[in-house]
Amino acid sequence: MQTINIGLLGLGTVGSGVAQVLRDNGAEIARRLGREVRISAVCDSRAERAAQWCPQATLVANPMELVQRDDVDIVVELFGGTGVAKDVVLKAIESGKHIVTANKKLLAEYGNEIFALAGKHNVMVQFEASVAGGIPVIKALREGLAANKIQSIAGIINGTSNFILTEMREKGSTFKDVLAEAQKLGYAEADPTFDIEGHDAGHKITIMSALAFGTPVNFGACYLEGISQLDSRDIKYAEELGYRIKLLGITRKTEKGIELRVHPTLIPESYLLANVNGVMNAVRVNADMVGETLYYGAGAGSLPTASAVVADLVDICRLISADRENRVPYLAFQPSDVQQANF
Ligand code: NDP
Ligand code: HSE
Repeated sequence: MQTINIGLLGLGTVGSGVAQVLRDNGAEIARRLGREVRISAVCDSRAERAAQWCPQATLVANPMELVQRDDVDIVVELFGGTGVAKDVVLKAIESGKHIVTANKKLLAEYGNEIFALAGKHNVMVQFEASVAGGIPVIKALREGLAANKIQSIAGIINGTSNFILTEMREKGSTFKDVLAEAQKLGYAEADPTFDIEGHDAGHKITIMSALAFGTPVNFGACYLEGISQLDSRDIKYAEELGYRIKLLGITRKTEKGIELRVHPTLIPESYLLANVNGVMNAVRVNADMVGETLYYGAGAGSLPTASAVVADLVDICRLISADRENRVPYLAFQPSDVQQANF
């Protein structure tokens, strides 16, 4: 059986989940794919994590070296951030490696540069885990709704914020305590300000907007307002009036251009979105042919996110053997086909 070798960057919450999924379900995935997916090289600041999760893989101290190794076919970037992560992704693409990443900040801020380079080198960049954790919403936008013109997307797309709002409403917990709990559970970003100030939801809605409307990514155009100014009285008054407060990411195509915004929103308590609780996410898409569709599931956490990362690996493995010359580039958007957007 052919082996596809993975170079894994980062063995934190998501990276260790990927190692666990491949350990527990690797045989079943190999049976379905006809190929074995193996982590051949790994890089993480903590060597003990590599020993625990990937004892068979070579531990490589320098990520720039890892992405150029001959025994790496696909690079999985789970470092996070836009420093080293950006440099290694660009270097990996130049080295002809396919990429899987969960890094929404990287794609929302540097996606245009990354996808342009990937197009030049004919490599795939997959990013299902970057939006809404384990929910296959990128696949839905790119493939499931391919026959449609998308009109709008609205979603609860930050698990940490939704967890905080839910625990404050249901248990009367304090904002500070629930945020600490979300960090402990591995839901929050390395810098949780991104979660509570709306930046993380902004990164995600920016990516979905670009995909839905065929435009370049433009995070700078996104209005951002998080939940840090809310307190338990806001939640209580909303409830008395029959509403729940949810942090929504919204994008819409209008006559004036594309709207892109994140802010707390009052939702009538009978609506489905009002009843999405805890770390769960939900994304509602309106499209011209199918009408309204709704996608629901775990928006953060080790195994749900790893599920999306491994799904991307499986996708690439399926396409990797296709004739490179005749393959339809599997990128989300390319500079050649994007229309200039009016944000
Ligand atoms: P973690 O902080 O848990 O894991 C990152 C790991 O990478 C850490 O072990 C870190 O080590 C290591 N690392 C980072 N930079 C380097 C470097 N330059 N050299 C060596 N090791 C490095 O993050 P997560 O797993 O939570 O997140 C990873 C990515 O996935 C992020 O982009 C995040 O936004 C995204 N994501 C996360 C989700 C979640 O639920 N957590 C869900 C969806 C997406 P150290 O700690 O020592 O820095
Ligand atoms: N910090 C993010 C969240 C992780 O809470 O939704 C998933 O992208």
